[in-house]
Amino acid sequence: MPSSCPAPDGAELVRELLAINEELSRLKDLDAILDRILTESRRIAGADAGTIYLVEDGRLRFGYVHNDTFIRQGDVTKDIYADFTLPIDGTSIVGHVAATGQPLDIANAYAMPADSPVAFNPSFDRKTGYHTTSMLTLPVKTSQGTVSGVIQLINAKDDAGRAVPFPQDARVVLPLLANAASVAIERAIMTRELILRMMQMAELRDPSETGAHVTRVGAYSAEIYHKYALMQGIGEHERKKTKDLIRVAAMLHDVGKVGISDKILKKPARLEPEEFAVMQMHTVFGTRLFQNSTSELDAMSGSIALNHHEKWNGTGYPGRLADLAAAQGPGQPKAGAEIPLEARIVALADVFDALGSRRSYKPPWPDEKILDLLHTERGAHFDPDVVDAFLDIFDVIAAIRDKYAEDQPGPDAGTGTDAGTGS
Ligand SMILES: [Fe+2]
Ligand SMILES: [Fe+2]
Repeated sequence: MPSSCPAPDGAELVRELLAINEELSRLKDLDAILDRILTESRRIAGADAGTIYLVEDGRLRFGYVHNDTFIRQGDVTKDIYADFTLPIDGTSIVGHVAATGQPLDIANAYAMPADSPVAFNPSFDRKTGYHTTSMLTLPVKTSQGTVSGVIQLINAKDDAGRAVPFPQDARVVLPLLANAASVAIERAIMTRELILRMMQMAELRDPSETGAHVTRVGAYSAEIYHKYALMQGIGEHERKKTKDLIRVAAMLHDVGKVGISDKILKKPARLEPEEFAVMQMHTVFGTRLFQNSTSELDAMSGSIALNHHEKWNGTGYPGRLADLAAAQGPGQPKAGAEIPLEARIVALADVFDALGSRRSYKPPWPDEKILDLLHTERGAHFDPDVVDAFLDIFDVIAAIRDKYAEDQPGPDAGTGTDAGTGS
């Protein structure tokens, strides 16, 4: 990240903002959008760290964090799955900015003027050894002028890497970027809600496909892919694009269950072979929903829906199907790299989540038992490289599981994040 703020002229600035806006409009997933907004706003301001909060149910909910001091850039990290909320009031700097709708520019958090409207809370610094100096906190507003979130940037850096006050240019440019951000954030929230609603319809049919399950499978898949891509040396552009798509597409893995009758879907006993053959058709029904579209998201959703029950050793279903529209049953076995990568990843994410969840016929398995099974199935059910990526980021997987737990009571305030910032 360049450490000094560019001083763009008016035309250059407009061009830059348009480019960022276009980039944001291409992204599908909320996390990818928040990541991008932080990347761009930190680049413009030369900031070491940044956090985004989103307004949800009258509070500020932690959304995303960057921190160059604690998180290696481009790495998979559990810190983005921190889960806490703050009140919208003067008890924190971000709360104050959300309440007033006015940006707040602090040159030195430890030497704030006596008449400051809000105090700096040094607990994050004390806990982590971080040293917060400058803070630029901006409201994100909808086109109607309501505050939908807050971006907080910490420690602008000079060329020598020292923390300095935020430069004038950043204070002018960033509110414009926050406006562009608000449109993208709103759209992404709508996409997630639409998917969850769609899956709620599927859930009415299959009680095991809950909103929490599909949210977890989406997040697991995104992070497993991220780690896999780093391990395989996949370039940053490709990595970010695919990570954005896979999270959304993975959530739709079982959407084809809407085509399976209740008699089979809700049968409390083991399925008879002919019933299981019908059940397997949910993969084909699912992929048919995404056919005849040119969108990359539909292509990936269709690929995952079709292939998420394939196994690395060729014993999965539905196998090779020449004509999806006419398919009535399984085709020749599909194995190894013939199964699309995104489906190999979702296969693991989906099975891992099902094993760790309570089902009418089994209690949740303990981690040890699940990990044993993954080792056994490495190279059998699952792609060995995907298993390796998964095991490598198990702390991130566990953070996702905690954040999107079933029947979540709603997070408590102030639990804090280890890579968050002064707030
Ligand atoms: Fe499935
Ligand atoms: Fe599932």
